[in-house]
Amino acid sequence: MLTLGIETSCDETGIGLIDDDCILANVVSSQLAHTKYGGVVPELAARNHIRTIIPVMKNAFDVARHRLDDVELISVTRGPGLMGALLVGLSIAKSLAIALKKPMIGVNHLEGHVYALSLAPQKPQYPYLILLVSGGHTELVLVKEEFKYQTLGRTVDDACGEAFDKVAKILGLPYPGGPYIEKEARTGNAENVRLPVPKPGGFNFSYAGLKTAVLYYTKDHQDYNLSDVAASFQESALEHLIQVTERALDHVRVEHLGVVGGVSVNKRLRERFTELSMRKSIHLYLPDIQHCTDNGVMIARAGARRFRKYGPSSLTVDAVAREALDALT
Ligand SMILES: Nc1ncnc2c1ncn2[C@@H]1O[C@H](COP(=O)(O)OP(=O)(O)OP(=O)(O)O)[C@@H](O)[C@H]1O
Ligand SMILES: [Mg+2]
Repeated sequence: MLTLGIETSCDETGIGLIDDDCILANVVSSQLAHTKYGGVVPELAARNHIRTIIPVMKNAFDVARHRLDDVELISVTRGPGLMGALLVGLSIAKSLAIALKKPMIGVNHLEGHVYALSLAPQKPQYPYLILLVSGGHTELVLVKEEFKYQTLGRTVDDACGEAFDKVAKILGLPYPGGPYIEKEARTGNAENVRLPVPKPGGFNFSYAGLKTAVLYYTKDHQDYNLSDVAASFQESALEHLIQVTERALDHVRVEHLGVVGGVSVNKRLRERFTELSMRKSIHLYLPDIQHCTDNGVMIARAGARRFRKYGPSSLTVDAVAREALDALT
């Protein structure tokens, strides 16, 4: 089934085309307009989606060597995300569904991140644990069977990706900060800067304290070494993910773990979770790098799977700013 995936929940305009297991095109345009503000400006994001979505879609169809008429299902992110940004994708999807007389399905963005795993050759077996670690979310979710989620814990303040972005801003690095922190950390020595590992308890996460600790460190040490601070922050941030995930693994006793979302691009994260999986004798699944941050292919994949079981969405489907995975049925 040739599925068009449309992703506009934040500052990436993503169009994906898949035909069952085959990825035909994955075109993502990341908005640079937010860089000078050090974070995403919601209205700018919506305006940029309006400007770029048609060229990005044209590009994706060229890459896939298909025409709009070939599409059999239109899958679109309906939330969670920025309202104005989501409405651009939803409006395009509905217009296409009416014009092409094809079914449309609204997809939860977080479920899209989970389905990035099903684009890789090795797919996790149910039940499995998911660590979703992105710009807006950091949570542990037990996937009991397809579409049946149970959230075990989540961040009580900042998301992990958000903490990377805010710490990058404190250190004078560009937005989005995750890749810049990772690059600086490569040449730094984490041992030279003592930062705390957060301990919020249960299966929850917390990044506000660690971020504030970086702020105070930089204020108290005017001549701080940027690479050492980046390395120490990254180690504490990842150690926190490892500790809470290990506790959850001991609790639910599953043998399959997936780590998804934008922060799962991070090579040091991949190393740390590979070590964890070997220590716990479990199977680890990570999406391909190009499917970690927001993209249309993961939305196409999640929509195609849901459509097979539940059929299309109504054309009155609305955008939602928030929607937890375990609220889905
Ligand atoms: N190499 C990296 N190391 C650490 N963090 C990274 C890296 N690359 C990207 N990130 C972070 O990933 C985040 C973006 O991920 P993603 O696109 O999944 O988030 P989002 O869609 O904005 O949030 P959500 O999916 O929760 O709505 C940003 O916070 C970014 O800094
Ligand atoms: Mg995302």
